[in-house]
Amino acid sequence: QPDVPVIAIDGPSASGKGTVAQRVAERLGFHYLDSGALYRLVALAALRAGVAWDDEAGLERLAQELKVRFDAGRVWLGDEEVTDAIRSEEVSRGASSVAQWPAVREALLDRQRAFRQPPGLVADGRDMGSVVFPDARVKIFLTASPEVRAQRRYKQLMEKGMSANIQTLLQDIRARDARDSQRSAAPLQKCADASLLDTSDLTIDQAVEAVLKQYRASSGPGVAGG
Ligand code: CDP
Ligand code: CDP
Repeated sequence: QPDVPVIAIDGPSASGKGTVAQRVAERLGFHYLDSGALYRLVALAALRAGVAWDDEAGLERLAQELKVRFDAGRVWLGDEEVTDAIRSEEVSRGASSVAQWPAVREALLDRQRAFRQPPGLVADGRDMGSVVFPDARVKIFLTASPEVRAQRRYKQLMEKGMSANIQTLLQDIRARDARDSQRSAAPLQKCADASLLDTSDLTIDQAVEAVLKQYRASSGPGVAGG
């Protein structure tokens, strides 16, 4: 669907990509792809099936056979709702392990591209602009300082009534940044044609407006109004 516009939002953990991408999608009436959820689902399926993090072929098979459904912000794996289960720390670490395997990434490509449906798509992850949708209309690299990101994750967990330690969160964020940026398959990096959006000092609304502004400034159909 090369005519369908894509807004690609990539960036590190807890930078706010998911929140910003969802709101931009709502504002434009576009579809939304949370690509990280797919890696999390493979990790959860691996934990359930007892497939090891270094078993590339086993993980690839799980990715190919993944039975997922997204609906109104909720996620199902087969018949089971796993919306909260895929957000656990164990699954978060597992996701960044399974994501290093090229065969797993390859197995998830078509599934991600299938989200590109009229009138448009907002996709967030690590390689939306670089690999999955290289022809995206708008590419944003969304970041914030590690300290701000740890603080945001902390607040998020507190609001859910979960316990957390800010120093541990900061360490986790730094470790995951390192693993995501240093891997050889689709590492997290700002591509040359992406614009940098540092949200350390921005509210969610300000970040959403900045993305919408870029989209309106890009040429093509569907840019009037909004
Ligand atoms: O919300 P957060 O940024 O912490 O994580 P996520 O976007 O749900 O992604 C979970 C993990 O999947 C990340 O640590 C990445 O290693 C991996 N991932 C990826 O490799 N490529 C993507 N397009 C999205 C996620
Ligand atoms: O998807 P990602 O892991 O990049 O981050 P997220 O889950 O969308 O955002 C992490 C937390 O930061 C959420 O609780 C957001 O509400 C919050 N946030 C914020 O406080 N200010 C921003 N400018 C963006 C996000």
